[in-house]
Amino acid sequence: MEFRDRDVVSIRDFSRDELESIFSVAKKMEEEGYDRGLLRGKRISLLFYEPSTRTRLSFEAAANSLGADTLWFAGVEGTSVMKGETLKDTIETVANYSDAIVIRHPYDGAARWAAEVTTRRTLRGEKKVPVINGGDGRNEHPTQTMLDLYSILVTQGKIDGITVALVGDLKYGRTVHSFAYALGMYRCRIRLVAPEALQMPPHVLSYLESRGVEYSLHRSIEEVIGEVDVLYMTRIQKERFPDENEYNRVRGIYRVSKRTLQGAKPNMRLMHPLPRVDEISPDADEDFRSYYFKQAGNGVPVRAALLAMVLEGSR
Ligand code: NCD
Repeated sequence: MEFRDRDVVSIRDFSRDELESIFSVAKKMEEEGYDRGLLRGKRISLLFYEPSTRTRLSFEAAANSLGADTLWFAGVEGTSVMKGETLKDTIETVANYSDAIVIRHPYDGAARWAAEVTTRRTLRGEKKVPVINGGDGRNEHPTQTMLDLYSILVTQGKIDGITVALVGDLKYGRTVHSFAYALGMYRCRIRLVAPEALQMPPHVLSYLESRGVEYSLHRSIEEVIGEVDVLYMTRIQKERFPDENEYNRVRGIYRVSKRTLQGAKPNMRLMHPLPRVDEISPDADEDFRSYYFKQAGNGVPVRAALLAMVLEGSR
């Protein structure tokens, strides 16, 4: 199991054992505190071509907690992308300033592609600069899945054997693609709740079938609320719809409120990668099962563990 200089592009690049070693480092960091000397002198670039609050700030908090410096842009306004610079040219340049690059980009596959061009020229020749995918289009968001799984471990004590409902925009939502792939590595039951037009893409369903995962398709939260251990809500991804009319047909389709939660098990946890729009009403925030803000908080130890392992090797 070697993490040093590894790209983190798809959650499928990691085995279950590797994911668990990230979680145990994250837990240790949470319990024992962050070692500010660990990444001193390292530079991590955060290139966010799309809006972000949690992913960028928690990567920055994680990097700074371990003593690393961060270079970043948030939105292409103010960068040479506005002058027509290609992704390849930007990445090749930034690689020469960086020990690792975190990238979020609107195009599917942008992170994989960036990983292929990132080498840094040094006095001793070329060095690979690891690329971490902070979300590429509607494809994947592997570090979100790492913190989602960690959140399940913290709240349920295990991942094997639980029932998870993924609700909302399963077609365009990248978090649920990575999450479903990861759940397929565990013995989970999966409930996919979405309008027909936004169901999980066939390539994810065939992966689940190939892993023998028990899953079922549903239209309403009420069908599953009583049996699930995790209810994972997602935002309808307005910006990915080719047609606004199509978006208008499905907007606001799911809404979890305090009342919805009355039908849930006491150990159930309501999760959401955030931001929410209207799919969880604010009156649900006070329910003890609502976990989304703590879930976002778990982004710091998990991303710190990942950065430490990619930059300093497995420990
Ligand atoms: C998600 C994303 O960017 O895919 N946000 C996040 O990173 N927590 C979810 C979303 O935007 O709906």
